[in-house]
Amino acid sequence: MTTTVNAPRNMIFNGDCIDVMQAFDTGSVDMILTDPPYVTNYRDRQGRSVANDDNGRWLKPAFAEMHRVLKDGEFAVSFYGWNKVDLFMEAWRAAGFRIVGHLVFRKRYASSSRFLRYEHEQAYLLAKGTPRMPARVIPDVIDFPYSGNRLHPTQKPVEALRPLIQAFSRPGDLVFDPFSGSGSTLAAAQALGRDWVGIELDNGHYRTATRRLAEANRRAAA
Ligand SMILES: C[S@@+](CC[C@H](N)C(=O)[O-])C[C@H]1O[C@@H](n2cnc3c(N)ncnc32)[C@H](O)[C@@H]1O
Repeated sequence: MTTTVNAPRNMIFNGDCIDVMQAFDTGSVDMILTDPPYVTNYRDRQGRSVANDDNGRWLKPAFAEMHRVLKDGEFAVSFYGWNKVDLFMEAWRAAGFRIVGHLVFRKRYASSSRFLRYEHEQAYLLAKGTPRMPARVIPDVIDFPYSGNRLHPTQKPVEALRPLIQAFSRPGDLVFDPFSGSGSTLAAAQALGRDWVGIELDNGHYRTATRRLAEANRRAAA
């Protein structure tokens, strides 16, 4: 007997991802591409901050749930804060993820400057079990154009997310982002013919992302 596993599709939940993921079946999403808080107390020039960026208490329970809901033999990509790599690595390993690659996103601008001009973002490629080889192997350095941060204080550019979705999911697959912010991962997935599901704690960002995906859907259908 085959068991059907279900996760909701093409919608965003407004809530804490640790709670919301508990309603998803085990092994129900095909790829995770997520940009969680970096645990750096970030504040931009306008004073905007990110929820849960002041603590790492969510790290272990959130990644444990992500590992559970991901299908066996599939990939997760997680951005992380470079000076909190120990916390992230501990949470990924405790959840059961294998560490299979590291990605550098090259900026043409410095997001801040101290001992160095900080001109890159970073993410790890994680796997559940033993995944197949991607149809096309992509480089681990990806250009990262400035998003303008108009929709979110740490908005990721869709252009930098697309190659990851293309490499680590197939058309019709379900791409999941439990820290979806303004919905950049979800917008990239939708544009590439994937199904998507997101979770966002902040009601303002949830509404921005919901509007953004609906508009993109309307434009695509016109
Ligand atoms: C780094 S931002 C993501 C930005 C996103 N990549 C974009 O391009 O807009 C992280 C997001 O996670 C949300 N967040 C923090 N803790 C959360 C939780 N426990 N559950 C769901 N969302 C959470 C924050 O409100 C924030 O919008």
